[in-house]
Amino acid sequence: MTAISEPEPLNRTPPSLTGRFRRDPLLLLATGIAKAWWPVWGTVTRLPATSADSGVFPVRVVGREQVALDENVIALTFAAEDGGLLPRWYAGAHLDLLLPSGRIRQYSLCGDPADQSAYRIAVRRIPDGGGGSVEVHDEISVGDTLSVMGPRNAFPLALPGVADGTDPAAAHLRFIAGGIGITPILPMLSHAQRLGYDWSMIYTGRSRESIPFLDELTRYGDRITIRTDDEHGLPGVDDLVGPLDGDRPIALYCCGPVPMIDLLRAHLDGRRDLELHYERFSPPPVVGGSEFTVNLARSGTSTTVAADESLLAALRRVYPGVPYSCQQGFCGTCRLQVLDGEPEHRDSLLSDAERAGGDILTCVSRCAGDHLTLDL
Ligand code: FES
Repeated sequence: MTAISEPEPLNRTPPSLTGRFRRDPLLLLATGIAKAWWPVWGTVTRLPATSADSGVFPVRVVGREQVALDENVIALTFAAEDGGLLPRWYAGAHLDLLLPSGRIRQYSLCGDPADQSAYRIAVRRIPDGGGGSVEVHDEISVGDTLSVMGPRNAFPLALPGVADGTDPAAAHLRFIAGGIGITPILPMLSHAQRLGYDWSMIYTGRSRESIPFLDELTRYGDRITIRTDDEHGLPGVDDLVGPLDGDRPIALYCCGPVPMIDLLRAHLDGRRDLELHYERFSPPPVVGGSEFTVNLARSGTSTTVAADESLLAALRRVYPGVPYSCQQGFCGTCRLQVLDGEPEHRDSLLSDAERAGGDILTCVSRCAGDHLTLDL
């Protein structure tokens, strides 16, 4: 039959994005850079280009174009600064951008993995976000040099049938993209097409004007269903999953907003005939949280962390430039020291020794009591 064995666990946060280390060495390096950089936040300047040995290397921006009709999504193309080949990558991989301000942001690669002369990413402008997308839109131009790290892959395309040589047509691949969530999916489509897989896709978004790469997708014809909220309303599970084809197993690859992924997880959990692979592009909702107070020892200020907000979000109200990256508890960029209070750890990264030593990842972890005091 096919290579599909067990469905993927429905919660996938790798401790190391290469799968080789408990803590990802590249992200630890990025964290160090971010923390060293943060005290001089506000001085907008370029990060120095670092050698490839450190995992950080310079790329030159060689292309910039609007890829959505509403002009809120741009695609940037990078080439190696020395004109050589770029490190290889596979569908689902992302690149860490070390932005001039010191922010670190992750963007899926959406070009051709077979082309080692260029990387392409796409960025939606989010005016009320953390500032990274606005910085990319407003500050990055063709000809600039940026420091990047990676590529790394936390959302690999595991093709049914490849490992054991069975017929690719024995399984069906269903891609589900919500808005800018199309970016990791794009190279998956061309790969599945090239290998002769039976696949289909639903592409959702607020409106046709808001969803990027429409022109590029026309070559796939009716394999792709475009469904926008303004024309069709919000999609349900059946719309997203599509028609099931008898006993054939189906592997779902989804990248989109949190409500879409939560909807799929809630309805598909426990199904043995479906694999669900997904990647979020925004932090997961806070579940089972209680309100507490966070005291910031160095500044002598305090703020309240609401039951449904993250500790990181509360800290960013006080210090908008506090470092963070993945917002999902696996990169370590938001790590701080607890001086007092009892943390409730919700990450997948810190060791027992690190927790005992007072470390906390503020993007996901909380407080088991009524207050925490942080070394901030
Ligand atoms: S931002 Fe990545 S672990 Fe918190």
